[in-house]
Amino acid sequence: MEVPCIAVAREAGEESRHALAAAGVLDDDHEIVVEDGTIYIPVTDPSVVPDAFETTTRELPVRRGVVTPADILGDEPSLERLGDVVIIDEDESERAAEIAEAVLASDLPVRSVLNRASKIKGELRVRDWDVLAVDDEMAAAMELSPTETVHREYGHEFLLDLAAVYFSPRLATERHRIVEQITAGERVVDMFAGVGPFAIPAASHGAEVVATDLNKVAIEYLRENARRNSVADAITAIAGDVREITEEYQGTADRLIMNLPHSADDFLETAVELAGDECVIHYYDIQSDEDPFSPGIEAIRAAAEPVFEVSVETEHVVRSYAPHEVNVCLDVRLTRGQ
Ligand SMILES: C[S@@+](CC[C@H](N)C(=O)[O-])C[C@H]1O[C@@H](n2cnc3c(N)ncnc32)[C@H](O)[C@@H]1O
Repeated sequence: MEVPCIAVAREAGEESRHALAAAGVLDDDHEIVVEDGTIYIPVTDPSVVPDAFETTTRELPVRRGVVTPADILGDEPSLERLGDVVIIDEDESERAAEIAEAVLASDLPVRSVLNRASKIKGELRVRDWDVLAVDDEMAAAMELSPTETVHREYGHEFLLDLAAVYFSPRLATERHRIVEQITAGERVVDMFAGVGPFAIPAASHGAEVVATDLNKVAIEYLRENARRNSVADAITAIAGDVREITEEYQGTADRLIMNLPHSADDFLETAVELAGDECVIHYYDIQSDEDPFSPGIEAIRAAAEPVFEVSVETEHVVRSYAPHEVNVCLDVRLTRGQ
């Protein structure tokens, strides 16, 4: 299971461990891991990690003495953790109930255990969940529904309800890759913003952000998350179809984030209308692994040329999506012709 940690160069490991211990944020329940010259040190709460460190999440082994779900079950269940919620993907209801019971009986600080009850579906990209188990004491203390949680990612926190919005912690590294490209003062339009995992770090990086989403509930969480992360003044959050904002924001964007991988091509006309004279588009797509980039590049060229010159800056595989299918991102620069 992935846990929050910091990643630092191996040489800085000892000093960093002391700094985390002094800040009271060192996680003693998981092992420190070294890989390819980087040391990963587990932390209990990424939001209070000293600013000098960058936080991430990663699989780290549980230390001996701590009771894990695997200790109780006798085998290693496949779990995903989002804040204090554990997610499983189990078809067999008896096995699902067994895992949920073991998770709550273990030493993991878990408030609820959810099982995936449908695929991600519809325009809002939300799935159904079965609530398998809830820790009553933790639930009473938190005043959140079993499907709500607070997820921490690269120093930001996101309140969200898995039953009402799209969210995937697996995209954390990808979101960070995009946000690192942003410079202060840029005008960013996050066309499919969800609860704000691109928009909020972008605003923290100094961008002026317009964030739209068809899902009203997601936009409510995005506004709350903007407040939690102290960037409310830099974000204009709009609930509705992104196609409806072109009149107001035509020609304004220095950067467009298009994270709607199954149908982003339907929105390229809108993207071109929003693009300023020089604009970078981050275009997410799901394609066959044999030729994952050409369809997106052709679609972008068809929508933007000849008004814009199109240059592909990065062809990036984000993750494997299904057998022979990959989730990719194209970073593409549009430059308006003379
Ligand atoms: C794959 S999710 C991405 C959310 C967010 N960027 C993230 O990384 O968590 C796509 C989002 O696009 C929204 N969406 C779908 N159609 C839309 C439209 N026409 N205009 C604005 N948002 C839309 C959905 O509600 C959903 O929240």
